[in-house]
Amino acid sequence: MPADIFDFGERIERYAVMGNPISHSKSPMIHTMFAQQTNQSIEYTAIHVDLGGFEQAVGNFRASGGKGLNITVPFKEEAWQLATERSDRAERAGAVNTLKFMDDKIFGDNTDGVGLVNDLTINHQCELKGKSILLLGAGGAARGVLAPLLEQHPAELVIGNRTPDRAVGLAEHFSELGNIKGCGFAALEGKQFDIFINATAASLQGEVPPLPDNVLNQNAFCYDMMYGAKPTAFMNWAVNHDAAKVSDGLGMLVEQAAESFFIWRGVRPETQVVIQTIRSELSH
Ligand code: ATR
Repeated sequence: MPADIFDFGERIERYAVMGNPISHSKSPMIHTMFAQQTNQSIEYTAIHVDLGGFEQAVGNFRASGGKGLNITVPFKEEAWQLATERSDRAERAGAVNTLKFMDDKIFGDNTDGVGLVNDLTINHQCELKGKSILLLGAGGAARGVLAPLLEQHPAELVIGNRTPDRAVGLAEHFSELGNIKGCGFAALEGKQFDIFINATAASLQGEVPPLPDNVLNQNAFCYDMMYGAKPTAFMNWAVNHDAAKVSDGLGMLVEQAAESFFIWRGVRPETQVVIQTIRSELSH
C-alpha cells in the first residue's frame, strides 16, 4: 500500500497578503509568529498583484486551496466588492482588509479600526470614552477606523483634513454613530483635543499637517498610524508641542493582524511579544 495513504499529518492551510507594493510587508512575519505561538498549521506568504489583476489573483489563490487573505493598498475597495458577505464595520468602511473563503461565500471584514482601538485602549491604556479626538486625514485610512472609534463613545470626534469638504462628507457618512464633525485645519484654531490620530499620508513625505500651536490639551496623546525605524514627522511635532504621550502605529499593525488571525482560526494570539520582536528588528 502506498505510504501516503497512511499520512495522518496535519494539513497546512494557506493564507497570504495581497498588495502592490508588497515586498515591505511585515504580515508574513507577524502571522508566522502567531501560528507558532498558537500551534496552528498555516503557511502565510506575500503576493504582489498587478493593478487590474486583483480579482483574478484572488480567484487563483482560492482555487489552489487558499483559506483567507489580507488585502492592502490599493485593493481594499476591490476586496469589498468581491466579498459576498461583509461585517457591519466593513460595510460602512467601504473597504475590506480580510477575506475568509467559506464553501460558497467570501466573507469580508475590516480589522484596521479594531486594531487601532485595541492598541490605544489595551496596549497604551488610553481610554477613549468621553475624550475629544482629532483624526487627521479623510482618505481610506481614516475611513477604515471611524466606526470602531465611535463605538468607544468619545465625547467628540473631529476629522481635520487638508481638503475640508472631504472631511465634512466623511463625517456625514458616519453621523448616526456618534458626535462627529469634519473641517479643514484652519477651523481648528482655538480648539483643544485629548487624542490625536494621524491618518494622513503626510508622514510618507516627512510632512506634518499644519495644526494650530495650542491644539494639544495638557495630557494629550498623539498617535501616528504610520511606523518605521525612526519617529515620524508627526511624532516629532508632537514631542515638540509637549504631548504627554506619543506612539507610532506598529501596535495597530499587529493588532489588526491578530483580529484577522482570530477570524480565520478562532484563536487569539498574544500580541505584545510580536510587537516587541518587530520593534527590535526595526531598530537594527
Ligand atoms: P489613504 O488610503 O492612505 O488614506 P488617500 O485616500 O489618498 O490615502 O488619503 C490620503 C490622506 O492624507 C488625505 O486625507 C490627504 O488629504 P486630502 O484629502 O486633502 O488630499 C492627506 N494628505 C496627504 N498628504 C498630505 C500632506 N502633505 N499634508 C496634509 N494632508 C495630507
